[in-house]
Amino acid sequence: MLFPDDDASAPSASPRILLFTGKGGVGKTTCAAATALRAARDGHKTLILSSDPAHSLADAVDEPLGPEPTEIVENLFAQEVDLYYSMKKYWGNMRELMLTVFRWQGVEQVAAEELAALPGMNEGSVLLWLEQAIREEDFDLIIVDSAPTGETLTLLTLPQVTQWWLSKAFPFQKLAVKSLGFGVRKTTGIPLDKGYEELERIFEKLETVRAVLSDHAITSIRLVMNPEKMVIAEARRAYTYLQLYGYGVDSVIVNRVLPEDQIPENSLFSGYLASQRQYMRDIENSFAPLPILTVPHLGEEVFGLERLTRIANGMYEDNDPVAVLHDEPTYEVQESGAGYKIRIRLPFVDEQEVEARQFGDQLVVQVANQRRNYALPNFLSYYTVRDTTLADGWLTVHFDEDDREAA
Ligand SMILES: Nc1ncnc2c1ncn2[C@@H]1O[C@H](COP(=O)(O)OP(=O)(O)OP(=O)(O)O)[C@@H](O)[C@H]1O
Ligand SMILES: [Mg+2]
Repeated sequence: MLFPDDDASAPSASPRILLFTGKGGVGKTTCAAATALRAARDGHKTLILSSDPAHSLADAVDEPLGPEPTEIVENLFAQEVDLYYSMKKYWGNMRELMLTVFRWQGVEQVAAEELAALPGMNEGSVLLWLEQAIREEDFDLIIVDSAPTGETLTLLTLPQVTQWWLSKAFPFQKLAVKSLGFGVRKTTGIPLDKGYEELERIFEKLETVRAVLSDHAITSIRLVMNPEKMVIAEARRAYTYLQLYGYGVDSVIVNRVLPEDQIPENSLFSGYLASQRQYMRDIENSFAPLPILTVPHLGEEVFGLERLTRIANGMYEDNDPVAVLHDEPTYEVQESGAGYKIRIRLPFVDEQEVEARQFGDQLVVQVANQRRNYALPNFLSYYTVRDTTLADGWLTVHFDEDDREAA
């Protein structure tokens, strides 16, 4: 793994965490809220946290929500994270520090206010709320309704990036902090070392959340998609990256599936049904052996607790939504000599039946008459497949640096 989970063991009392991600509009909020409701009714004290700055959780549950947890039914609390609220309430010193530094550099007041919300800070504030909820041990289950895939990957890689930042890029040694704080204080009159201490504490908290999020027994990621071409392509890429960073994806949710038996033959939707069948096979071929949960299209917009209950029943049937639905790595990228190797879990196949070929950023693995597509991490576009081997149920594909690119 590129970012090994350096055996950071999470606190044993940590609540269970489920994070829903997928392309924009696929039904993340709907599925997350439905899961939260079902879990709360099963007796788990649940917090659902919306991390998408364009919140729609309040619409889904059809209840007004705020930046602090609000109880909407017994055992179910919901919260829409607000960056400015979070900064004011919990990270005031750091905000002051950043504003001061920006103003000191001649940035206008209004622009400084805006700049004090740096890229990644929204994600950062979500992680800090998460850290607080974990630390306070008040909930059995925390569900994160996240922003579309790109932002979620920022959210999940942020702690790793900040860790690098902390150790390599920022002058954080106590001495430097003290003298820099003193220097700036003389100029601005503001006790800046306070802000730095806060920043350091924030990094520590991010590290705690990182450990909790990458512990597969605690955190499961559920990939939401629809039976549609672009959506599936994005989900495959997300899956690759999540595995690359060592996060545990425990299932795939295919939402808004048209129920075959309720569509009359030769109707407007017959063609859609035919492509839906094909896409369901594609999903199977891309994500097996992950469990695939299907949620029927309700034929109407989903909001309010009654409709969310129907979504949850379709999604989980008799399964326990809080359980880890699958925990077996299926895809790993490792450094290997001057190149890389990708390992793909392929139980029950013979070496003669397998062929792997690279097409740009896709790896196509043909197993007998079945074809599976895997999205490759971008950097592997500069590498080519050298050979493949199959042993103990794992297909290993070796990549060497592309000679043409190197030349
Ligand atoms: N199974 C379903 N049947 C019918 N409508 C659905 C279903 N699932 C979701 N919808 C509707 O699709 C729309 C988008 O759903 P939702 O807001 O949950 O998606 P999202 O992935 O959270 O979107 P965003 O990326 O904007 O956060 C909503 O209007 C919702 O009511
Ligand atoms: Mg949403």
